[in-house]
Amino acid sequence: MEFRQTRYNAANFKGDKMKSIKEVMLSRHSCRKFCSDKLNSELVREILDLARLSPSSCGLEPWRMMIISDPCELKELSVACNSQPQVAECSHAVILIARNDLRVGEAYLERTVRRRANTPQKYEAAMNYFRAKFAGLDDEALMNYATKQLYILAANIANIAEGFDVRSCIMTGFDAAALEKLCALEAKFRPAIVVALGHGEPSKYPHTRYELDEILISRGGSEKR
Ligand SMILES: Cc1cc2nc3c(=O)[nH]c(=O)nc-3n(C[C@H](O)[C@H](O)[C@H](O)COP(=O)(O)O)c2cc1C
Repeated sequence: MEFRQTRYNAANFKGDKMKSIKEVMLSRHSCRKFCSDKLNSELVREILDLARLSPSSCGLEPWRMMIISDPCELKELSVACNSQPQVAECSHAVILIARNDLRVGEAYLERTVRRRANTPQKYEAAMNYFRAKFAGLDDEALMNYATKQLYILAANIANIAEGFDVRSCIMTGFDAAALEKLCALEAKFRPAIVVALGHGEPSKYPHTRYELDEILISRGGSEKR
């Protein structure tokens, strides 16, 4: 049995001129008006290469990402996304795809677990854990479990992009059947989130958000208004 580790090589990381997390959180807004210049594809790869380090439940990374950048394909994608214009006008759209082949016996689970369980005993223990964890879940429940992980990936893509002064829009406003048809993937894959990326003017308006003291709640507490 082969045990392999993959490690992100920080020495190769080119993005040393990124905004701080604080700057990112203060400046990121959903962009609905991208300008027509294309992003450098290497930069898009770098954004996704960092985002793939996102956490996921049990480290299963139940995702795939599809990049669409051809203007005709972006138009097609926009139609699937309820004709939202920012999809047709963005530079690159990243479709985040959940996968539900996570049961014991499925090649993906076994390959994924093997990366960390570096002895046969650890591997067997992990498989017993997953056998119990997923035994009661049907395909749809497993897909929902996987889809939750994609939201973390989406947030990280948007924030990392903003760190490079790249605008973004996270989207779930699409016709699911049309998006599935466009992606044309096997049943174990389901497109769940679209993230549009591109150049655009920085947003100058403040965030509309509740204050921290309003969203903090105590155990058994009711809302203070
Ligand atoms: C899960 C999710 C789905 C979203 N779907 C869409 C969408 O389909 N179209 C869109 O224009 N914005 C979409 N948004 C963006 C939200 O409208 C936006 O984040 C929210 O209004 C706050 O604005 P801000 O991102 O500019 O701070 C989505 C955001 C999230 C997190």
